[in-house]
Formats: sequence, C-alpha cells, structure tokens
Amino acid sequence: MATDPIALIQEHFARADASDEFDASRAALATVRSDGQPSVRFVLVRHIEAQGLSFYTNYESDKALELEGNPHASLAFHWWATGVQVRATGPVTRTSPSQSDAYFASRPRQSQLGAWASDQSRPLVSREALVARFAEVEAQYRGEPVPRPAHWGGYTLAPVEIELWHNGDHRLHDRFRHVRDGDAWIETRLAP
Ligand SMILES: Cc1cc2nc3c(=O)[nH]c(=O)nc-3n(C[C@H](O)[C@H](O)[C@H](O)COP(=O)(O)O)c2cc1C
Repeated sequence: MATDPIALIQEHFARADASDEFDASRAALATVRSDGQPSVRFVLVRHIEAQGLSFYTNYESDKALELEGNPHASLAFHWWATGVQVRATGPVTRTSPSQSDAYFASRPRQSQLGAWASDQSRPLVSREALVARFAEVEAQYRGEPVPRPAHWGGYTLAPVEIELWHNGDHRLHDRFRHVRDGDAWIETRLAP
C-alpha cells in the first residue's frame, strides 16, 4: 500500500466501490455556521485527487454559504464492507468553472434540470411547486443541451489532516493520523 494518505484513500475507495452495496462516494460533510455551530450532511465525493476531494452542490445552499463564510470543512466516509473510516479536514475552494462544466455535462439530463429547478436549502411552499418548476425548465431547454447554472458547481477540500481507521477485533481498531507538513505527511498511530 502507498504511504501518501491521498493515495491510500484512493486505494480504499476502489476496494469499497468494488465490494460495498452502497455508493462508496457518499461522505458526511461538516461545515461551520456563522454562529460557530456545526452543520453536517451527506454529499457524493466525485473526485479523489492529489489536490483534494471534490463534491458538487448549489452555491446558494446553506452549506455553500457556510463554506463561503468559513472555508474549512471535514469529510468522513465509512465503508461498511471493508471496515474502513476515512476523515479528511482542510481548506475548501471552489473548483474551476471548466471542471464544474465538465462534471455537469456528464450528469443525467434529469439531474441537470433539477439543478435549475431547485433553490437548494430555501423554503418551498409545496412539492407541487417544485414539480411545476421542473416542468418549466424541462420545456425551456427541450431539444437543446442544458447549460450549467452559475449557481451550481464544485468545491475541493485540500486535506491538511487525514485519518484512516480500520475495523479491528475486540474494538482494537487501527487508527493512523496523517498531518501535512509542507510537501510531506507526518503519520501517527492513535489509540482506538
Ligand atoms: C447519500 C446522499 C448524497 C447526497 N449528495 C449530495 C451532493 O453531492 N450534493 C448536494 O448538494 N447534496 C447532496 N445530498 C443532499 C444533502 O445531504 C443536503 O440535503 C443538501 O445538499 C442541502 O444541504 P444544506 O442545506 O446543508 O446545503 C445528498 C444526500 C444524501 C443522503
């Protein structure tokens, strides 16, 4: 196994993706509200790369407003089938518009239309109102490609700290914390 913890995440992701019945890309994303309170929800992490872990969302959602106010976050994956937990913490930046365009273009058309139809995290009077809005955008873009809304795109979390946790017998789990030190990483084994 590689010792670069991002390469380790990639390897564990590939194993989980091959063996977990659930989507291995799902992770809990923790952000900080303007009043200092925590806020957590699941997202799908679409890229795990040397520069960081990327997910896509509405730039006017609560999570996005929280990230614009405090651009630091944590992600946590748990892969049941392989008994691995991964935590990654670090600064978050918007992905480039071209990367967001490329990912948006790869999504199913219904999801693209949904990005236009949903004012994510804002109050909604009824489900009917959402369905009607979806029908409106469907009619608007009928017969043409759906462009990426400016309010939809990616964020990349560049980890400065990564923890890998491996399920062990008798609750004697193995935990390894990796802290970024310039271009290198310092690894520490932690008690479970
Ligand atoms: C498994 C799972 C995956 C999800 N993936 C995403 C995602 O990739 N992007 C997203 O914006 N919301 C995703 N959601 C919905 C979020 O959990 C959340 O409800 C939504 O983004 C609004 O969060 P906010 O109000 O904190 O911004 C997902 C939900 C679940 C249960």
